[in-house]
Formats: sequence, C-alpha cells, structure tokens
Amino acid sequence: MARIHIIHENPEWLPPLATALDQRGQPWADWNLSSGTFDLSRPPPEGVFYNRMSASSHTRGHRYSAELTAAVLAWLERYGRRVVNGPRALDLEISKARQYAALEAAGVAVPGTVVVRGEAEDVVKAARARYGRGPLILKPNRGGKGLGVRLFADPDALAAFLAEAPEDELPADGLWLLQDYLRAARPFITRAEFVGGRFLYAVEVDTSSGFELCPADVCEVPTPSAAVGDAFCPVGETPVGGAPSAPAPRFRVLPEGLEAGQRAKLEGFLAANGIEVAGIEFIRTAEGEVFTYDVNTNTNYNPAAEEAAGLAGTDRSGPGAIAAFLGSELARIQPAAA
Ligand SMILES: Nc1ncnc2c1ncn2[C@@H]1O[C@H](COP(=O)(O)OP(=O)(O)O)[C@@H](O)[C@H]1O
Ligand SMILES: [Mg+2]
Repeated sequence: MARIHIIHENPEWLPPLATALDQRGQPWADWNLSSGTFDLSRPPPEGVFYNRMSASSHTRGHRYSAELTAAVLAWLERYGRRVVNGPRALDLEISKARQYAALEAAGVAVPGTVVVRGEAEDVVKAARARYGRGPLILKPNRGGKGLGVRLFADPDALAAFLAEAPEDELPADGLWLLQDYLRAARPFITRAEFVGGRFLYAVEVDTSSGFELCPADVCEVPTPSAAVGDAFCPVGETPVGGAPSAPAPRFRVLPEGLEAGQRAKLEGFLAANGIEVAGIEFIRTAEGEVFTYDVNTNTNYNPAAEEAAGLAGTDRSGPGAIAAFLGSELARIQPAAA
C-alpha cells in the first residue's frame, strides 16, 4: 500500500506531524535514518516521501545521517518516487555556503560571508583581513539550532576564543563561516514558513536570550534572564536591545505576513531549488535592509505561537499544512501506485 514516508533522524521532532497526519487519517510510516541498510537493486516502497533530514543531525550523534539520506534520496529518484524536499533540498540544508549562492542567484540579499577551511590561525587571519576592529559572527557551515553561532566584538576576541576552543567546536564538515554581524533594528529575527512551495506564515522570534532558536517545544531554552550574555554574546558584547523586562512569548505569528516582493523572491528561490517545505530566516537591520541568512528545509513550528494566532489544529498551522499537502500528493499518485 502506498503511504507517506517521513525521512528524519530525530523522533523528538515527530509528534506534531504524526498527530496532524493521524487526525487526517493519512497512512504514514516513520523512516528514521540515524542508521539503516538499503538494497539499491530492489525497488523502494510505494508512496510519497518527505525528507526532513536535519542539518543538526551530527549534534545528536548521527554524523552520517545526511550522507545516508543523500544515498536513499538518489535511490528513490532512480525509481521515480515522489519526494518532497529531494536531493537539492538536502544539499542546501547541510551547507550555508551553498544556501547563500542559491539565495543570491534568486535575487535574495545575504550577509557578507567568508568561508574558511583551515586552522584557527587561518580563521583569525581571514577575520582580521575583513573585519579590522569591528564585530563579526562565527558559525559552522553545516549549522542547526544556532549551535556554534557566536558574536565577537572584534577579531582579537575571536582569536582568544579559538585558542581555547574545545575539539567539539570544529564544524561537522570542516568549514567555518565568518559573517557580517547584522545589527537588528529590534532584537528579533523573522522566520517565514513555506509549505508546498507557498508562503504559510511568518513568525517573529525574540533573540535577546540567545541564538538557539529552534521553535519545537522539545528545544525550549531557559528564560531570557538566565541566558542573556551566555549564548547570545559569549565574548562580552552587550546584546542589542538588552533583555526584555518581563517574560514575553519568544515566538509570535505576524498578522501582516510578508511583503509581496520579498514573498515572491523567496517562493522563486524555493521553486528554483525544488524545495517545498522550508523555514527561511532573515533580519531587518537598523538601516531597514533585509538580509536572509538561514534556510531550514527541516522546519519545526512553535505550538504556543500557532495557538495564540488561532492556527493550531487547522490546515494553516505548520504540521496541519504539511499533513494536508502530503495527503494531497499521496492522493495524486494513488492511481499510478494501485
Ligand atoms: N549574521 C548575523 N548577524 C546577527 N545575528 C545572526 C547572524 N547570523 C546568525 N545570527 C543569529 O544566530 C541565530 C542562528 O544562526 P543561523 O545562521 O540561523 O544558524 P542555524 O542554522 O544554526 O540556525 C540566528 O537566528 C540569529 O539570531
Ligand atoms: Mg537558524
């Protein structure tokens, strides 16, 4: 029987989508690619495949899940299976450098970025050449959940940090990115969600407690007062805007959505790259410019924000929209599979 197959490596992120699929009576199966064995000479199962392999899989002990997923996706494509977020989506998920090239090709502005493969001294040299005495961001090319994203007041602070950096600070794919620090007009980023290649909603995320902005409930970080100065600026810069005086929700669905031109560009980027489900993050600077710096083809949704916006449980919630979309794709292939 044809079903919806969910390709992933983190069971903790599955329940919201599982519930939405069950509520709609969709037949589905869980394909956890934290490990696995596949005979490429046999046909894969029938159905629709949704790839939600995560860039941060290596942080959960699954260093080679993305590589395994690439192999499985090639197999699925060879047999003509319908794959949502296929090989190109995975390709961009695991490399910010490739994301930026693809975004720019679609006319989307990205922050100035230098990629470095080398020792700490090469990273510092590159930082001094580009940033002089100014602030900069250091992040791994293969990212996820904001882990390893750090703001430094200047290249000296970066040098001091790298001199002491533990082994596990090394990026999973060996590539560091040095990036222009985007000074946000307010301490918020925006994440625009897309399902079926179309804009669903945008959520504003308070960054005053740090860079780890995974929206899933299971990723919740401590309240701002406990975390300010820790994750946001480990090297002694004051967070822009400071900590909020009273705890407010970190995630808020924006009733105004996205500006039409920006929406068209981002949807164009997704179409050009065969990406159907994504959360795309951007910052509006104090000068009013918008820079896009992260594309998440594995995206989680914040239940409290969806609840507050009246989206929870509907086809306009993240999990609801994906379940409805996958259901319609399954219905589309059923005659061929029967
Ligand atoms: N260039 C930047 N300037 C300012 N803040 C940034 C910049 N890059 C990242 N951040 C902050 O760090 C967070 C995590 O960075 P991101 O590039 O999204 O990495 P990840 O893929 O791990 O989520 C962002 O959501 C944002 O709050
Ligand atoms: Mg991000």
